[in-house]
Amino acid sequence: MKIAIIGTGNVGSALARGLKKSSHTVVLGARDITNKATQDLAADVGAELASPAEAAKSAELVVLAVPWNVAEAAIKALGDLSGKIVIDCMNPLGMIGGVLELTLGHTTSGGEIVANWLPGARVVKTLNQVGAEIMANNVSMPHRPVMFMASDDTQAKAIVATMLTDLGFEPLDAGDIRKSRLLEPFGMVWINQALLRGRGRTWAFAAVDRK
Ligand SMILES: NC(=O)c1ccc[n+]([C@@H]2O[C@H](COP(=O)([O-])OP(=O)(O)OC[C@H]3O[C@@H](n4cnc5c(N)ncnc54)[C@H](OP(=O)(O)O)[C@@H]3O)[C@@H](O)[C@H]2O)c1
Repeated sequence: MKIAIIGTGNVGSALARGLKKSSHTVVLGARDITNKATQDLAADVGAELASPAEAAKSAELVVLAVPWNVAEAAIKALGDLSGKIVIDCMNPLGMIGGVLELTLGHTTSGGEIVANWLPGARVVKTLNQVGAEIMANNVSMPHRPVMFMASDDTQAKAIVATMLTDLGFEPLDAGDIRKSRLLEPFGMVWINQALLRGRGRTWAFAAVDRK
């Protein structure tokens, strides 16, 4: 499958590294394709490099790995994404009273808002629940880390599940896109532990069953 990763920051570069040994073709969508670090990343992982709109146009699956506060503009600049699977890994974060928090929830979610911005696309909320380091490499973990998905499109979730498996995750279906209202606070649980409770960035959630 051809995967466009829009944004080459922490998450974009981690996903590119995590998919390096997979069978997928990756194209990095970057605003400045002359940037040396971006060119080095593309060369290192064997990815193509293109403008965000060109990358998205060429791919079957588009990962939006940009900050929430630029999401709407960045998405609109991609052109028509109808029929494409779009992964929304963004947590709608902002500073509230000097503290990093979700800026919305309960009655809507980032995932639902992205789906509304892209009515023809097959939006799947996922990859928002752990830090980028875990997306790049989780092979040494004693349990497979879980990664939940929320989408109204069951077939799209099945396709995304194969990509999550390639990234080393156990994909779990959380339900429809409304369940982004659960997955975004769940991402905040990871952020709280990692950044505020001192656990660091190299841990993840696992689902373990009693024998
Ligand atoms: N960091 C994590 O561990 C983590 C984990 C899970 C989910 N997330 C979510 O993933 C998203 C990305 O986080 P990040 O940490 O990777 O951010 P980041 O390191 O700041 O990278 C953001 C990327 O977005 C690009 N960008 C900014 N505005 C753009 C636009 N208008 N059009 C196209 N590209 C644009 C930037 O490109 P330039 O270089 O050109 O500025 C940069 O490559 C966020 O929504 C975050 O909530 C992050």
